[in-house]
Amino acid sequence: MLNIRVEKAKTLKELPGAENPLKFGTIFTDHMFLMDYETGKGWHDARIVPYAPLQLEPSAMVFHYGQEMFEGLKAYKTEDGRTLLFRPQKNIERANRSNRRLCIPEINEEDFLDALKAIVKTDERWIPTKPGTSLYIRPFVIATDPFLGVRPSDRYLFIIILSPVGAYYPEGLNPVKIWIEDEYVRAVKGGIGEAKTGGNYVASLASQVKAHDEGYSQVLWLDGVERKYIEEVGAMNIFFKINGKIVTPMLNGSILPGVTRASVIELCREWGYEVEERRISVDELYEAGKDGSLEEVFGTGTAAVISPVGHLRFEDHVLQIKDGGIGPVSQKLYDTITGIQLGKLPDTNHWTVEVR
Ligand code: COI
Repeated sequence: MLNIRVEKAKTLKELPGAENPLKFGTIFTDHMFLMDYETGKGWHDARIVPYAPLQLEPSAMVFHYGQEMFEGLKAYKTEDGRTLLFRPQKNIERANRSNRRLCIPEINEEDFLDALKAIVKTDERWIPTKPGTSLYIRPFVIATDPFLGVRPSDRYLFIIILSPVGAYYPEGLNPVKIWIEDEYVRAVKGGIGEAKTGGNYVASLASQVKAHDEGYSQVLWLDGVERKYIEEVGAMNIFFKINGKIVTPMLNGSILPGVTRASVIELCREWGYEVEERRISVDELYEAGKDGSLEEVFGTGTAAVISPVGHLRFEDHVLQIKDGGIGPVSQKLYDTITGIQLGKLPDTNHWTVEVR
């Protein structure tokens, strides 16, 4: 059991009112979790303290070379008052995979889970209960050595902050419009594409701005070498239903291995769908769109959950997916995953973990 020192906030903030739409990632709770690392000493001084600005040297390495890892998961309040996390073990394992790629020291898995439970328990009153809301949990590690040379840091800070959230996209569950990027690339095999780190997201901004200016919510990335095969969307993995089969790009070293992605594959297989993890080209996708075999397109992610895609645009070609509405598989996946997360449906796969 991780030994966590707790310093409670002297005054607690007012909770957002029921009328507050909880715009994603804008409100933060009363406390945060912190733990330090130093070479020779390991991870130490786990503590929960009032949420407040950090004091860091301007020379801290994270500001210069981006040595950082982040994760995203959610806590939910069930109707009978229990607090549930969704597959936290998957996030913890992925965090350490990212850490290894980024030369950040790994965090003991049990300590990580203890920290998640402790901070969520401390700020439990912040878990919103309106449909479509949850408490978003953002664990991250930053390199804090005051040093301007390029090498792995000797000091790190592990932080967990919490934010009550509604839908990630203003569209909610309504279909989003996605721009297939043909100019920039996000990642290449052997790079850091499969790690969850800020660098992958800053790489996406120029395209995102361009797509937004054209009225599109997100960018769909193609592979960085042939610029032909579909990889992932800005904040989600991507799925297609083609001729009754569920198809998603296979994990190839440059795609983020999403927890919701893995859950969708498992659920679809349980429901009897054939699920193919393989390469899929834009040409194949547009052909399927033209001949009517492209039945649904949806994104998956912790923040976005299931996000139906109504339109795709590649160069000058706009493809409307069926009638541009929510497909039945997307709707069923959304209902099933949120149903399990909220304890409304049986959790036959033991995906939820209760915070006591
Ligand atoms: C998540 O879905 O949790 C993510 O980390 C995506 C993020 C860019 C909002």
